[in-house]
Order: sequence, then C-alpha cells, then structure tokens
Amino acid sequence: MKESLGWLLQHLEDVPEGDDWLGAGERRVLAALRFAKRRRDWRLGRWTAKRAVMEFLATPGLEPASLEIRAAADGAPEVIQNGVPLPVALSISHSGGCGLCAVAAAPLLLGCDIERLEERGESLVRDYFTPGEVDYCFGASGEIGVLRANLVWSAKESVLKALREGLRRDTRSVEVVAGPDAVGGYRGWKRWTGSCLESGRRFHGWWRAREGYVLTLASDRETFPEEEAA
Ligand SMILES: CC(C)(COP(=O)(O)OP(=O)(O)OC[C@H]1O[C@@H](n2cnc3c(N)ncnc32)[C@H](O)[C@@H]1OP(=O)(O)O)[C@@H](O)C(=O)NCCC(=O)NCCS
Repeated sequence: MKESLGWLLQHLEDVPEGDDWLGAGERRVLAALRFAKRRRDWRLGRWTAKRAVMEFLATPGLEPASLEIRAAADGAPEVIQNGVPLPVALSISHSGGCGLCAVAAAPLLLGCDIERLEERGESLVRDYFTPGEVDYCFGASGEIGVLRANLVWSAKESVLKALREGLRRDTRSVEVVAGPDAVGGYRGWKRWTGSCLESGRRFHGWWRAREGYVLTLASDRETFPEEEAA
C-alpha cells in the first residue's frame, strides 16, 4: 500500500484574525516574538500546520486549539495534544505570504520547503551547490534556469529540515538530482532525490511549481502526496 504524504498550502488571507485557534503555550510563544513579520510568518505556519494535521488525522470534532505545534530543541516542529506528542511527522515552510506544511505518519524524517521562483545570484549556486548541481543549474537559461536553481535550493532545504539540522549543516553535503522534465509524475508532483554525500543516505523527493513558487517535499521512506485538500 502507498504510504500517504499530506500537504497543504495556505495564504496569509486564510489565517483567522483572532488567536483563539492557538493553544495557551503557542500564545506565549507568539507574545515573545518581537518582529511583526516573524509573528505573521509564525502564525501562518501554525495555521497551515494545524489544518494539515487535522486533514491528515481526519478525527471528527478535533479543534485547532487542542493541538500545539511546538518547536523541539533543534527547531523542528512537533505536534502535541493534551501534553502528549502525536505520532505524526511534520514540516513547515513560509515564503512571501504562502505557508506549506507536510505531514505523514511517524516515525519518518520529513521536510518541506516553499520558495518564490525568482532569479538567484550566480554566487548562490557557486557557493552553496555541489559541482553536479552547478552543472545542472548552469545547463539551462531563462525560466528553466531560474526554476532549476530554486528547485535545487528548496529541495536541499527540505532534506536539511528532514535531517533536523537546517542550515547548520553544509548545504554541499547533500546532493539533489532532479530535472524539470523528469518523468514519473504523481498527482501533479515530480520526483527528485537527495543524497547525503558522506553517508550515502538517500531521501525521496517530490516537487511542483505552483502560483509562482516551487514546492518540495522530502522523506527518508517513499511516500506519495495526497490529493490537495479542498
Ligand atoms: C530550518 C531553516 C533551514 C529554515 O529556513 P527558512 O528558509 O528561513 O525558513 P522556512 O520558512 O522554509 O522554514 C522555517 C521553518 O522550519 C522549521 N525548522 C526550524 N528549524 C528546523 C530544524 N532544525 N529542522 C527542521 N525544521 C526546522 C520551523 O518549523 C520553521 O518555521 P517556524 O519557526 O515558523 O515554526 C533555518 O531556519 C535553519 O537553518 N535553522 C537551523 C539553525 C537555527 O538557527 N535554528 C534556530 C532554532 S534552534
């Protein structure tokens, strides 16, 4: 049976104005965030994550305020209900007013990322990508070149989140292999792979372009994206 990977995209306009959908602990975290942009992104991430987890669990009567999305000591998000961690893996990303959350059954290493499709300087590719990724990105120009650079960057971030390390880790320690013309799509998603160059550990990835953004999902077991929630 195909193992399911839930995902949800939300926009700032989807987030309710009040905070009654946040748990008490979450409201304390929010109150401590000093910058308006960070508060906005954090609320968008929490809203997207709660909705994605609720869709994934499909438990009747589940209220958003009963779930708390907490950052573990390493920064990775976890879902708590009544003080008890739920057996779901999740990952959060926000960019330019869009929030993305991926969710799947634990135990699983899971990462997601959303990036606006925009010109990336040549130095980003040269400084942060592996030689193979540099060739892939510089092997195309125009829109395809922009897509490739953003796709590789986003896919890397997804793997680094799945590893729970983020940018604390050298981005060149993970190699992404993908192609905008890759075959084997599933529900609008295309495949990529991420490999940790030292350990040989491999991550399964999906990507799609959407609304001027590229979305990536990564997991250490093969999972299959669900249909988009209505
Ligand atoms: C993880 C990271 C790559 C995300 O970078 P980004 O492109 O700025 O942001 P995104 O919107 O794509 O993702 C942010 C989300 O990543 C998640 N995240 C943060 N640290 C993470 C980690 N170590 N592992 C997995 N996910 C992590 C969080 O859910 C965060 O959103 P939230 O804080 O609103 O809940 C970056 O924040 C990073 O490298 N963090 C690790 C280093 C660090 O300074 N951590 C501070 C917390 S201890």
